[in-house]
Amino acid sequence: MIVLIGFMGAGKTTIGALLATAIDRPFIDLDRLVENSAGCTIAQIFSRWGEADFRRREFEALQHLPAGWNGVLAVGGGAPMHPEAQLVLNSATVIYLQTSLDHVIARLGNDPSRPMLRNKNLEELFNARSVIYGALADITIWVEDITPDQIVTNLKSLLANLKPTD
Ligand code: S3P
Repeated sequence: MIVLIGFMGAGKTTIGALLATAIDRPFIDLDRLVENSAGCTIAQIFSRWGEADFRRREFEALQHLPAGWNGVLAVGGGAPMHPEAQLVLNSATVIYLQTSLDHVIARLGNDPSRPMLRNKNLEELFNARSVIYGALADITIWVEDITPDQIVTNLKSLLANLKPTD
């Protein structure tokens, strides 16, 4: 399984779907699985039941992926913070889509569908998460000033060059 991680607004869903097509594998967006099983949006989950409930649903969705599933998975920006999720990621090929916080803010503004953007300490959150993303990644790719198609082309060759133990 290939897992795309990175902060909100890095383009995980867009790049994940394109990459999956390019390497002929299925694509799943974990946030959509959570929304489908909850029957409401992520913003509604946060406002009705809070962040902890969302995190529980997010991890549950990750755990319920079919055993041996070998597609491309995009996970929300907070998913890799869960220590048990990190165990799942350890057995996957992890791609970190790296951006600056300025890029995120310019791209998303105050997007109401992303409750974590209203976090009071967004910069702190960004910095703390960036360290974890970097530590989990087999491949880190900078995604500013480059088109999604170019990112996918670069990722294909980076994936082909990964050693089997990576
Ligand atoms: C979150 C990121 C969102 C979504 C939820 C929480 C976060 O996904 O999972 O709103 O904690 O950063 P994206 O990273 O796809 O925006």
